[in-house]
Formats: sequence, structure tokens, C-alpha cells
Amino acid sequence: MVVETDKTSLVFAVGQNKKLYQIYWGEKLKSAADYAKLPLQQEAYMPAGTDNLFEPAIKMVHNDGNPSLELLFGGVTTKSDGNVTTTIITLKDPQYPVEVKLHFAAYYSENVVKSWSVISHREKKAVEMTHYASSMLHLNAGQYWLTHFHGDWAKEMRREVTPLPNGVTTIDSKLGTRANIYRMPLFLLSKDCPATETTGEVIAANLAWTGSFRYDFEIDNNNSLRIISGINHFGSEYWLNPNEEFVTPELVFTFSANGTGEASRNLHRWARNWGILDGNGDRLTLLNNWEATYFTFDEELLTQLFDGAKNLGVDLFLLDDGWFANKYPRNNDGTGLGDWQPNVKKLPHGLGYLVEKATEKGIKFGIWIEPEMVNPKSELYEKHPEWILKLPNRAENYYRNQLVLDLTNPEVQEFVYKMVDDMLTQNPGIAFIKWDCNRMMTNSYSTYLKEKQSHLQIDYVHSFYKIMERLRVKYPTLPIMLCSGGGGRSDYGALKYFTEFWPSDNTDGLERVFIQWEYSAFFPAIAVCNHITTWGKQSLKYRTDVAMMGKMGYDIRVAELSPEELKFSQSALQNYERLKEVIWRGDLYRLISPYNEERAVLMYVDAAKSHSVLFSYALNPRSFNQFAAVRLQGLAPDKIYKVEEINRMEGRDNAQHAPGPSKPAEAQHYSGDYLMKVGISLPNNNPLTSAVIEITEVK
Ligand code: GLA
Repeated sequence: MVVETDKTSLVFAVGQNKKLYQIYWGEKLKSAADYAKLPLQQEAYMPAGTDNLFEPAIKMVHNDGNPSLELLFGGVTTKSDGNVTTTIITLKDPQYPVEVKLHFAAYYSENVVKSWSVISHREKKAVEMTHYASSMLHLNAGQYWLTHFHGDWAKEMRREVTPLPNGVTTIDSKLGTRANIYRMPLFLLSKDCPATETTGEVIAANLAWTGSFRYDFEIDNNNSLRIISGINHFGSEYWLNPNEEFVTPELVFTFSANGTGEASRNLHRWARNWGILDGNGDRLTLLNNWEATYFTFDEELLTQLFDGAKNLGVDLFLLDDGWFANKYPRNNDGTGLGDWQPNVKKLPHGLGYLVEKATEKGIKFGIWIEPEMVNPKSELYEKHPEWILKLPNRAENYYRNQLVLDLTNPEVQEFVYKMVDDMLTQNPGIAFIKWDCNRMMTNSYSTYLKEKQSHLQIDYVHSFYKIMERLRVKYPTLPIMLCSGGGGRSDYGALKYFTEFWPSDNTDGLERVFIQWEYSAFFPAIAVCNHITTWGKQSLKYRTDVAMMGKMGYDIRVAELSPEELKFSQSALQNYERLKEVIWRGDLYRLISPYNEERAVLMYVDAAKSHSVLFSYALNPRSFNQFAAVRLQGLAPDKIYKVEEINRMEGRDNAQHAPGPSKPAEAQHYSGDYLMKVGISLPNNNPLTSAVIEITEVK
């Protein structure tokens, strides 16, 4: 049984004992006959309770109290449409009517595999499951290097690269409503030594699950590694009824024998084709008002801000938090959440008026919502205390002054669906939604789930998906940004329903270089929203150049820009319009890592290798610094390219980003061969300076 993509294979075989073994995972062998020579060593999906002494993939207690499971091969089916082949391997317990179907969907040209399992049984009553992994994967190497990411609010994606020790290393979260605030559901793992962008065998993976996740990396007595991925089973014993299916989330992963760069490009391609809603479609540039006004605005100010958006040249104005609630007006984050009626003081003419005004001014209108949450000071809280997750006999526990609605309750699902649907049907011009989720679960208890409290974290996420599924039937392409108090929700489970996500509230230009660098290993630029704001002390040019490497937007008061800054921003947006195809759909090459030098350099190249854009961000190099030339990648050696610096600020010394004489940037012509073997010197050698270089084939 070979799960195969263009360059990789994951191979299984059945032993004499009828157990299923994973015998290979890596770069495809030239001759398939060679797989037969591999030893049967690692049981593919190890159950607990019988002869296994390591972390199990699955553990359950049967109706008679027997706490063991044995899984034997029961058949295999494959289905293929050419590019996507799904292999389903059935495993069965010989004594108990329990079945596990291991699913592998292989995306041939993208070199990505999704793996998940479906568990079911025909015992008389529910069985209790305490472990239910999406996948268990085995690797053999001398050493294993894990790159994982941790952080907190505004500190997303801080990397740690570490060799794995013998024993179990767990990376997990226990948040319920989102995957991340302290740990990200993403990892890179390389064999033998840390991978570079262009060398090393490396795996990049994300569990497609918008809730508590768990990765166990276990090295055994033979120095073999098993990677167990899935929903975090902590406090989440699951009672599975007879004939019901427990479908685990998918682990999305890729294997590259040529370093992290290729692994990232694989995931990007897969995500655009399969992983993100409308991944090959268009996106809107926007002006958000969150940092420009916070909660303090009214109709008049907003319509003035529309003029700013138009003047700047973005497609859409995004109205953020603070527009709703009347009894407890949403004038700060302590009140009103849950009461989704426009605030009559701030918006006397309602949302429809704003949509109309925006349309008159030639821009689209979008809106922020956080429909899964409630402030105790709200009418919703007063009317429906039973809809709220909170423990009996304990004080309410708040985070950002709010509580979580009990999405497992179908009435609450209906409330959330209806609130969004009503808003969209009553204001048909709404062209964009930012969907936020600012809280995790603490002190949680569902009155709806009664004695099945341990189902809460799992059922919550399924309920969230159910609502999104329903909304997407009615609004299949409406752009919706996924946001969660910064980047708490950044996973391929949710991105099926969302067109983009907000990676962090931290928009400081320098911080963003690192944050965006890390996200770019897993997510394509079209999905990562980067806004130019007034966080950070870098020049406007620097913050603009940084935002441009993804889906660009603004969160500033346009009226406060100097004429020079406004002109620069308008022309940057025009450049973006020309380059967005390359940025959104091109191949990403990460040339210089900000962890290796005092700068980050990356470039995108379109499929025809005729148009490319390079971004260079200096960090804090020492005085009189001179960086070495950068060798480009991904171009065609025989083509001739025009290389030209763009996004320059007139009247500025672009090497300093400071007032001064601006030397003209002369376009030069080079062959792709020259650019990739010799490279080019970039103009930004000074601290916190940046450069954008457009590279265009000369025909
Ligand atoms: C979260 C988001 C911000 C903003 C605020 C509004 O923190 O990440 O971008 O929308 O909520 O309250």
C-alpha cells in the first residue's frame, strides 16, 4: 500500500500477524519493488492496552470494561481523480466490533498528504475513548530536529529549534475555542540536522483543527520517532455511540528532501488549490479603523474615513469593533458583546446607510463581528444565561471581560447563524467580514451537554464548523477574515471557510518581519493579512514594504499622512495592484533568514518565471554595514531580466529612509543565470531600511 505523491511515498505493509506496519516515509524510491525489502518494524496506528508500551494512537474501554484494543488489517480501498488519491485502510479488532479507517488523501502534484482516521463500533452501548489520534507517523534518523512555535498575544510565532530527546516531547494547547495563544499548531521537523531553506529532509505540518491540539513526538528504544497528531485528549474523554463515526481532524503535511523552502512552496500550492476558501481568487485591499479610532467613532467620522480610503486607493473600508449594542453600548471591551444591533447614537441610520455612503464614495464596506462571545454586561447575557459556558458553584472567570457562548447548543448555533445571515440580508452591500474570537475556554461548563462535559472542546469546534458550513452554502465566496485576538486561529481546519487570516495584533514593522517570516513557512501570502499601522517606530516605507509581502491593508488615519507619505502610499498600492498576482500566486523563495543575518530577504516568482518581486528588510545591523550580494532563486537561467527598485520615496535618501537627496534607481539588465550565481547587492544596508525590487523578463 503506497500513498504516493510526485516526489514522496508513505508505504504500509501487513505482517504475518495481520498487523499494519508503516515501512517507509520519504523521498520516493525509484523501484517500487524495493519497498518489499523494508522491515516490518513500526505498527502504523498503535492501540493501547495490549502489547504496546509507548504512547498509543488510540485507547478505548469497551462495554464490558475491557480497556484494550487490537487492530488488524481488514482491507484497503483507493479512489483517484488523477491528482488526488484517497487510500482508506480498514483496521478491525478481532474480538470487539470496533473499526478504525485510516484515511490518506495524497495530492500528487502538490506533494501534500492529508491523513485522518474514522473510528466506529457496533457494541451495545457507547464506548469510552481517551485517545483518538488523527495520525501516527514513523521516521528513522540519527537525530530529529523540531521547530515549533510559541508566544502569547502580540507575540505569535516565536520559534524554537531543538533536537528531540529520547522519550516523549509534547506540544499542545488546551484552549477550546482556538488552537493558539501560547503554542501554535504548526511544526517543522527535519532528519539528522536542522534543515536549511534549500537542504535537508524536512516535514512541515498543521493539524486542521481550530481548537485544542496535541502533537506527541516520541523517540523509542530503537531511536525511531513516532509523531502522534490530533485533538488534545486532555480532559476530553469521548463517549462514542454505536454506529456513530468519530471523524478526527486532518493532519496536513508535506515532506521535502530539499529543505524548508520546497516544503513551504508545497503547502502554499496545496493551500491555494485546496486548503483556503477561494485560494486562487481575488482579494480586497482595505483600510481598517481599529487602530485609527478604537471604540470612539460615529457615523460622521466613519464617512470621513471613507474619503481617506478612497484617496489612498484601497478597495474596502472595514468597520471594526464598537458599532453595536444599545442598552450596554459597546464603547469599550467591557460591554455589549452579544447585542448585535447597531448602536443608535453612533450609527443613527444603521449599517445600510454606511454601506450606501461607502458605495457612493466608490469603495466597498466590511464589518467586524465576534459572534461566539458575550460580555456579562449585555442583553444577551440577561436573556440567555443558559447559553453561556460557565461553571456552577464557581465565580465567572473573564478574559477580555467576556465569556464564550455554548456553541454545542443548537439554539446558539441558530442564533449565531441568524445574526450573520440577518446582517447580510438586511445590508446586502456588506462585502467583507472580519470574524473574531477573543477568548479561550476557562471555568467552562455546558448546560446543554449535561453529563458529557468532556465532549465540550470537541463538540464546540464541530459546531463552529457546522455554522460556517451553513453560512458558506448561502454565501459561498464572501471574503471573511479569520481573526482571534491576533493569530489565535491560524489553521487549515478553519481556513476552508475563510479567505484569509489575521496573524497577530502586533503590527510593529520589525516584529512583523519575524512573525510573517514564520507564517510564510506554512501559509501562502494571499491568506496572510498584513496591515500598515502606527505601531512601531520604523518609517512608513519600511512598514509598507513589510506589509506588501502578504495581503496588504491599512489601519491608519489617512488624513494624518503628510503629502509625501500619502503620495508614497498611493503609488505603493498601485505597485501592489501590479505585483499582487506574483505575491499571491507566485513561488516563495526565502533567501536570507532574519535569524542568520541582520536582515530578511525573500522573493516571489510567477509560474512563467517572467515576473518576480524581492523584498529586503534590514533589521539592526551595526554602523557602516555592507551586506553581501544576494543570490536569487527560482528564475530561468536563460532569460534576461530588468531589475529595478520600486516603492521608492521621493525626496528621501532611500538607503536611509530619511529626508535627503534621492538617487535615481537605475534599472539594470541581467541574465537569470547571473542573478542566481552572482546575485545583486541590495541598497538597504542601514538599520530599519527596506527595499522592494521588481524583476521583469525582457523579451
Ligand atoms: C481583536 C483583534 C483586533 C481588533 C479587536 C477589536 O483583538 O485581533 O484586530 O479587531 O479585537 O476588539
